[in-house]
Amino acid sequence: MNTLAAPSTDLMSDLPRERIARFFAAESARFLANHPQSRALHAQAARHFLFGVPMHWMADAPSPVPLFVDRAVGARLWDVDGHELIDFCLGDTGAMFGHSPEPVVRALAEFGGDGATPMLPSSVALDVAALLEQRFGLPMWQFTATASDANRFVLRWARAITRRRHIVVFNGCYHGTVDDVFVDLAADGSTRTRPSLLGQVHDPATFTRVVEFNDLPALEAALAAGDVACVMTEPVLTNIGMVLPDPGFIEGVRTLTRRHGALLVLDETHTISCGPGGYARACGLQPDILVLGKPIAGGTPGAAYGFSAEVGARMQQAKGAAVPGHSGIGTTLSAGLLTLRLMRAMLAEVMTDAAYARMFVTAQRVADGLEAVIAKRGLPWCVTRIGARCECQFVPQRPRNGSEARAAFRDALEAALQLALLNRGVLLTPFHNMVLACPAHTAADADHLIAAFDDALEALGAA
Ligand SMILES: Cc1ncc(COP(=O)(O)O)c(C=O)c1O
Repeated sequence: MNTLAAPSTDLMSDLPRERIARFFAAESARFLANHPQSRALHAQAARHFLFGVPMHWMADAPSPVPLFVDRAVGARLWDVDGHELIDFCLGDTGAMFGHSPEPVVRALAEFGGDGATPMLPSSVALDVAALLEQRFGLPMWQFTATASDANRFVLRWARAITRRRHIVVFNGCYHGTVDDVFVDLAADGSTRTRPSLLGQVHDPATFTRVVEFNDLPALEAALAAGDVACVMTEPVLTNIGMVLPDPGFIEGVRTLTRRHGALLVLDETHTISCGPGGYARACGLQPDILVLGKPIAGGTPGAAYGFSAEVGARMQQAKGAAVPGHSGIGTTLSAGLLTLRLMRAMLAEVMTDAAYARMFVTAQRVADGLEAVIAKRGLPWCVTRIGARCECQFVPQRPRNGSEARAAFRDALEAALQLALLNRGVLLTPFHNMVLACPAHTAADADHLIAAFDDALEALGAA
């Protein structure tokens, strides 16, 4: 959440702050009245959990008390007060293909008592690798428990095999809880550690350079010294609102990394929503290393990184040449049998071309509908869609980099609208306005979201 000092009128949306605050208060009261069970559980939870939630950032959602969930299937989620919600948050992409997909439920049932974590290879791992290679074009793979882990380990490999210490990321990036990339671009163009980072005594800015997305000259300057191990990026920034690459930008990143001997690491954890082979495959791009996570094990912990044979050979050489002992790469519960069986079910049966086609149709319908509402009301906002994902940003032109995207944040307005949508039966992602379509969403679900958005704006008195 950004904390930019806001003027009394929200200049871009032209909505008085007092009106947003009154609207938020009314929606909060409505939420509290309709969620007695969530309130009761939250009161009990305060004894056990930080901020009354099992993971602290669940408390950052806009509702006055957290929504306690009962269960979720497909595109639907039921809370403990019995409300049925259309879920466009989908666990912030962890359930990108819907909650509890049938092949995953079946794989879980068939798994029975087969032993989740023998810490040994299996033929299932080979099945998964074959499916991954077929989809992403990279022959070699390693597995981790989370995408954060995958990114951390990839940075370590990149430094080990290039024998270079620096890395480059783009302003506004998020790659999970990876300290090295918790950096921002300061006004003077320098890299500074993100002030929100807790408890870190080493300064990530020492070996990390940050440049703006869509700025190839800045990237070239950051690579020029020949000391950069890798550039890590999402092909579309998704964690600061969405920022699309200009035509040729990602291809330019590929050219520059090759020219300067740096590896290109594409984090497709979110952009796997762009197509069955992620953004890279859709655009014919060849990263050196590609990271996947969140949805690929059916919403259970599981992630993977893939790489070229050449990179794999260099990794083997680096590990072989190192002193035996802890490499700092890997965790005990990675590549377990259960995780791999769930990945196989997802890749073979859930993340199909047909599923993507349905997701894209719904996402397009949502984007068109939101744009129509915004146009009807004359609001200076824009909508960006790529693949199954779309997002409303509170500026008239799509931001081209992290600074512009950050400047489009309107925290109070965003929270008020999200809460209003929740009260109207629609769940969005709390940390931005992401709308994610899964195969189970219907045209009626999309229309419900659009009508709820329009109704919320009406209640807010937005033009
Ligand atoms: C692009 C990207 N990479 C990696 C991660 C980390 O995923 P996880 O929190 O599952 O480790 C995230 C989380 O939001 C992400 O957005």
